[in-house]
Amino acid sequence: MSATNHVRLNDVAQARDWIENARSIAVLTGAGISAESGIPTFRGPGGFWNNHRPEDLATPQAFARDPKLVWEWYDMRRQRVAAAKPNAGHRALAKLEAHAPTFTLITQNVDGLHHAAGNRNIIELHGNLWQVRCVACCRHEENRSVPLAPLPPQCACGGWMRPAVVWFGEAMPAEAMWQAGLAAEKCDVFLVCGTSAVVYPAAELPGRAMSAGARVIEVNLEATPFSDYAHVSLRGKCGELLPQIIRVPACPEPLI
Ligand code: OAD
Repeated sequence: MSATNHVRLNDVAQARDWIENARSIAVLTGAGISAESGIPTFRGPGGFWNNHRPEDLATPQAFARDPKLVWEWYDMRRQRVAAAKPNAGHRALAKLEAHAPTFTLITQNVDGLHHAAGNRNIIELHGNLWQVRCVACCRHEENRSVPLAPLPPQCACGGWMRPAVVWFGEAMPAEAMWQAGLAAEKCDVFLVCGTSAVVYPAAELPGRAMSAGARVIEVNLEATPFSDYAHVSLRGKCGELLPQIIRVPACPEPLI
């Protein structure tokens, strides 16, 4: 991959045209798409990593050291997500899946808001906030969407349960990563939404799509390391730009 030197900045019409004519679309989302639902991002203004160190909260070593501290942070995030609703950006992507011949949504988010918006073909690269897994020998995993008290939660076997998400220093789920790579290499349009594009291996997907011949469109509030490579880089909010380039009929709030 090399810098294109002819990035089309804010070319909404071009992005819309490529999307409308695509046979196969893959999308990579990051925390930015959920920002308008009231969920803080990790980097940038108001981001979690401005006030916390990832190595204190999102590593296996942090959990081994202080499972209660880690769980307090995840419990706070679970409560924020439980109170959140999908926004116009999520809903536009759900409409896109309903209309695109082939569609894959790859997300680094663990908030489940793409499911709530109605997307179905979703690859959750970093897991899901509602899944918990025993760290003792039994490795039991289950969905626990109810409030978790006391913290840290315990498994029936007596072991601590951890959030079943991917932490720094851990391998990505192999099958999910393989499927994501396949979708990136087979699509003709790859849409990158609300990610700082700095965390690998997710950040390598736009480049893989581009090397395989896809048109790559980025939607982000600000420039990222990928912006100079994208075919079109749109600066603004996902909730405003995605409904424009996906040209969905007005995006109403869901009734329930
Ligand atoms: P980041 O917080 O790194 O980046 C969010 C991006 O969204 C930034 O580039 C913002 O400019 C942009 N942004 C913010 N609000 C936006 C909006 N309304 N519309 C469009 N863009 C907006 O989040 P990720 O890229 O998802 O991993 O971070 C990747 C991974 O790093 C996360 O999954 C998490 C984190 O540490 C783990 O916890 C393992």
